[in-house]
Amino acid sequence: MNIAIDGPAGAGKSTIAKRLAKELDYIYVDTGAMYRAMALYFLEQGIDASDEKEISSASEKVDITIAYQGGEQQVILNGENVNGRIRREEVGNMASATSIYPVVRKKLVALQQKLAATADVIMDGRDIGTCVLPDAEAKIYLTASVATRAKRRYDELQAKGERCDIAEIEKDIEERDYRDTHRTTSPLKQAEDAVLVDTSEMNIDEVVETIRKICQEKQ
Ligand code: DC
Repeated sequence: MNIAIDGPAGAGKSTIAKRLAKELDYIYVDTGAMYRAMALYFLEQGIDASDEKEISSASEKVDITIAYQGGEQQVILNGENVNGRIRREEVGNMASATSIYPVVRKKLVALQQKLAATADVIMDGRDIGTCVLPDAEAKIYLTASVATRAKRRYDELQAKGERCDIAEIEKDIEERDYRDTHRTTSPLKQAEDAVLVDTSEMNIDEVVETIRKICQEKQ
């Protein structure tokens, strides 16, 4: 059985999917990390996100693979493990800006489908239920209000001792939502057969329990 979890940035997809994968003994596939790894490459090459031609030719030079260490997904970019370098806001914004290009998506969707064909996976992203795994047995659309998502991100950064501004985080989230939902190729949207879970008023345990029930019903 494959489980698809889609939703906007900061809805809690990866936290929830990781927990569920452990409990259900599934493989967790974080597709955002793959877009981030490609974005890191573009940033390091000094490529402008709006230059589709450059992005296309650079994409051909990118090799992305996935490995697992202690159950944690590692993204390997051209032979180098880049897990420690893809979480910065700058990389996330570049990933959002460059994931609009079909050439980027085609490459990563193929890798994602290959992973799902070989194991039971819980995969999270923006287009998993609509495009990558249209036949997934369970599909969840996880969301939360912009204010809630910004507050969670703010708390996360504060805990890491990073200085941040909540208004700026909210603006970033709104911009990212707009780009992710308005791009032409596989925009973020709820699949017709996905179950909507709004986590604005829920804690992690409640969300995990809700999704576990949805998955059990689909089995
Ligand atoms: O989930 P994340 O924040 O790590 O994702 C970073 C960006 O990658 C996101 O803003 C849009 C893009 N993305 C995508 O287009 N499709 C996916 N399946 C996953 C991420």
